[in-house]
Amino acid sequence: MRTRLDHLVTSALQRGSAVPAFTCYDFTTAMAVVAAAEEAGRGAILLVAPKTAATPNGLRLIGALRGLADAASVPVAVQLDHATDLQVMADAVAAGADSVLADGSALPYEDNIALVRGARALLGPDVVLEAELGGLAGDEDRAFGADQSGVAVAGLTDSALVEDFVSRTGAELLAVAVGNVHGKYKGEPQLRWDVLQDIAVRTHIPLVLHGASGIPAEELVKAAAMNVGKVNFNTELRTGVLATLQDQLPGHRSDGENLQGLLGHWNSSARTFAAKTLATLTR
Ligand code: 13P
Repeated sequence: MRTRLDHLVTSALQRGSAVPAFTCYDFTTAMAVVAAAEEAGRGAILLVAPKTAATPNGLRLIGALRGLADAASVPVAVQLDHATDLQVMADAVAAGADSVLADGSALPYEDNIALVRGARALLGPDVVLEAELGGLAGDEDRAFGADQSGVAVAGLTDSALVEDFVSRTGAELLAVAVGNVHGKYKGEPQLRWDVLQDIAVRTHIPLVLHGASGIPAEELVKAAAMNVGKVNFNTELRTGVLATLQDQLPGHRSDGENLQGLLGHWNSSARTFAAKTLATLTR
């Protein structure tokens, strides 16, 4: 059943859990995520990247994800991730997204607020808005290098701005920069739980942790206690699917160009990752 993203996250937090959100560039991955959520009896969030939503096929994918969410036996929300362009936001919502991350984190503070307010004015009160304060380093769609050539932390959310930012944007969720990055971490991730705690006491709205790929499970389990109700994954999901495809491709080519069989492996790689993540974040 499709569910408002803020309601899904708030009710998970009331149980001491966080909801995982997975970037879906395709329908096979989305079906795997929903199947894992149904098996776990928990909700999940399907994320669509802005580059996907900026194409006609991407908008059709959003429509298909909405249908998948509607038909699911557990709560599922469809969110446009990291959007900076109001037209892309409007198109994604018209196509079926019910939540948007209006991401002005790379802009000066006042411009960040103006972007979120502009999104609200355009999209209306029923679209759930996430806003981001404190920019994350790294590419949202591609990840290069591990360890020393990975992504270094860009900066931290200034907790002194949180109350003003939340009240002036009217966002329902707040994405934070607390040592997290998109893509592969340079060395071990060092999450700043002290900064997160400082943010958590300054706002009642749920917090969002982006860049969760590579953060160990024993760290992620602490998230909900700090009011982090949504945790975003992309790189680890992609890495698993691509490794599986690389491994399975030769055998499936020689097995009569068996695309259907290959897609089955794609689905099961994504499903296994989603199931593991749901188990980590659920109490
Ligand atoms: P990772 O690719 O680092 O998992 O980040 C995903 C993300 O935050 C999507 O918004």
